[in-house]
Amino acid sequence: MKAAVYRSYGPPEVIKIEEVEKPVPNDHQVLIKIHASSINAADYRPRSGSPFLLRLLNNGILKPKNTRLGSDFSGRVEEIGARVKQFQPGDQVFGFTNGAFAEYGCSKESSIVIKPANISFEEAAAVPVAAITALQGLRNAGAIQAGYKVVIQGASGGVGIFAIQLAKYFGAEVTAVCSARNVEMSRSFGADYVVDYTKENFTQSGNRYDLIFAVNGYHSLPAYKRVLLPQGRYVCAGGSLSQIFEAMLLGPMMSRKDGRKMTSIGIAKINQDDLVFLARLLKDGKIVPVIDRCYPLTAIVEAFRYVEDTLPKGKVVINLENHR
Ligand SMILES: NC(=O)c1ccc[n+]([C@@H]2O[C@H](COP(=O)([O-])OP(=O)(O)OC[C@H]3O[C@@H](n4cnc5c(N)ncnc54)[C@H](OP(=O)(O)O)[C@@H]3O)[C@@H](O)[C@H]2O)c1
Repeated sequence: MKAAVYRSYGPPEVIKIEEVEKPVPNDHQVLIKIHASSINAADYRPRSGSPFLLRLLNNGILKPKNTRLGSDFSGRVEEIGARVKQFQPGDQVFGFTNGAFAEYGCSKESSIVIKPANISFEEAAAVPVAAITALQGLRNAGAIQAGYKVVIQGASGGVGIFAIQLAKYFGAEVTAVCSARNVEMSRSFGADYVVDYTKENFTQSGNRYDLIFAVNGYHSLPAYKRVLLPQGRYVCAGGSLSQIFEAMLLGPMMSRKDGRKMTSIGIAKINQDDLVFLARLLKDGKIVPVIDRCYPLTAIVEAFRYVEDTLPKGKVVINLENHR
């Protein structure tokens, strides 16, 4: 089968389409014919091999040990392992696999869910990592409640658009932070207020919040803390590596003195309960995936280049059907 493979660290051009062995599911796995997958930061950051620390933590110092890319996917179950109970060949599913930019992938049952019929394969492939990150950031780390005043910083990217919609679903009052070109889009997904970060610094506005969900953005931890209400929480999900490490290392120390909590979600944990929860919201139209562009597998280098050089509105999807 065809798959996207990278054998050295570097720019998008290190990705090649190669002929690799079709995977064989074990007793607990399903084999999926992949229709679409989407690009996440977890694909391009390790691939770049920079900063060097990432290689130590991740995937080999001189060259990548795991040469495959992609995790989000949607597709059809083709074969099931002997102990698989929930799925049948032919089921349309979406979820998580290792090496999703490929014609086939294997997943354990707990990493997939049935795709709602009202969304396309492309839309379903845009969901798993981004929506689970938003859900776990707001609900688990952020303990969001109806009526909360919530800031979503980095509101117009893959994670942020789901975060606006989920925060509205949970009944919060949402302030979205993005740039001018995305103000209207953020409003259209339910943001009550929108701050253009190129013109205004929300940490200096005088407003106070119950929850700041920082998907992207570069204020200092003390600046975030100053605009939290008593018992408020700051939750870091992304941004620069220094921002993430700062939240992970200094956040716990800064949380000791009063009720305000500075925290990070670490790595989002893919699990079936959350996929089922999201599938129900997709089916009910409570959340809608947003796709900036779709590319065929043969144009995957161009797709990564687009994601890394621009700030896409929502997700960029790789279509595995078009190249045949
Ligand atoms: N922890 C996890 O498991 C996990 C999982 C997935 C993603 N992430 C992280 O989440 C982050 C978000 O990923 P993403 O794919 O949603 O999109 P992204 O491309 O990293 O971020 C896009 C968003 O950030 C905004 N933005 C850019 N510069 C900003 C600044 N200086 N101040 C405030 N906002 C700024 C953009 O606004 P405009 O486009 O309007 O300018 C847009 O809303 C990444 O850092 C990624 O590593 C973490």
